[in-house]
Amino acid sequence: MAATGAVLLVLLAFTIGVFANDSDMLQDVCVADRESGIFVNGFPCKNISMITAEDFFFAGIAQPGKITNNILGSKVTGANVQDIPGLNTLGVSMARVDFAPYGLNPPHIHPRATEMIFVLKGELYVGFITTNNKLISKVVKIGETFVFPRGLAHFQKNLSKYPTAVIAAFNSQLPGTQQFAAALFTSKPDVPNDILAQAFNINTKKVEMIRAGLS
Ligand code: GLV
Ligand code: MN
Repeated sequence: MAATGAVLLVLLAFTIGVFANDSDMLQDVCVADRESGIFVNGFPCKNISMITAEDFFFAGIAQPGKITNNILGSKVTGANVQDIPGLNTLGVSMARVDFAPYGLNPPHIHPRATEMIFVLKGELYVGFITTNNKLISKVVKIGETFVFPRGLAHFQKNLSKYPTAVIAAFNSQLPGTQQFAAALFTSKPDVPNDILAQAFNINTKKVEMIRAGLS
């Protein structure tokens, strides 16, 4: 009986281990062929005779991203498999986040990745929230790093009157991002007002006000 329990535990640990990250690669490279029209987990591979250095290159996070959302004052520029086809099956990606003075990267999760940030300039108040609602937060400055564990709600806020930027690294080729406010209040079709009113203990008028403010 005890032996069966131990085997089950080992199997469980193995399963968690196997599925804790993007799937492992089975060849040197599998440059994404995004035009193939075939839908698989990840992307099918380009013929290796057709790959070039450009498949592994991206200059899109060399410069600050253009901040167009004046309410939030932040801009995330991804450097993932959608920008760099050579990342397909490699299990890593990056992003750059630029912040206007007092800008906020609002609470969000990445369903497929842990994130680690490196502060390029300025300082930020950053934090994540555990599943038992403990806030782990800190002010981080230029050259410092901070980790946001996979799947946990997190945010970054520029505390200063100067522009700030971070580089983020992820252990997924496509971490995915779900912002709570946008997901709940701007989904299509709408999450019904009474669901949000009950969840947040507010009336449906306030739900509509929040929707209007976000759209
Ligand atoms: C920062 O949290 C990001 O997701 O880029
Ligand atoms: Mn993030």
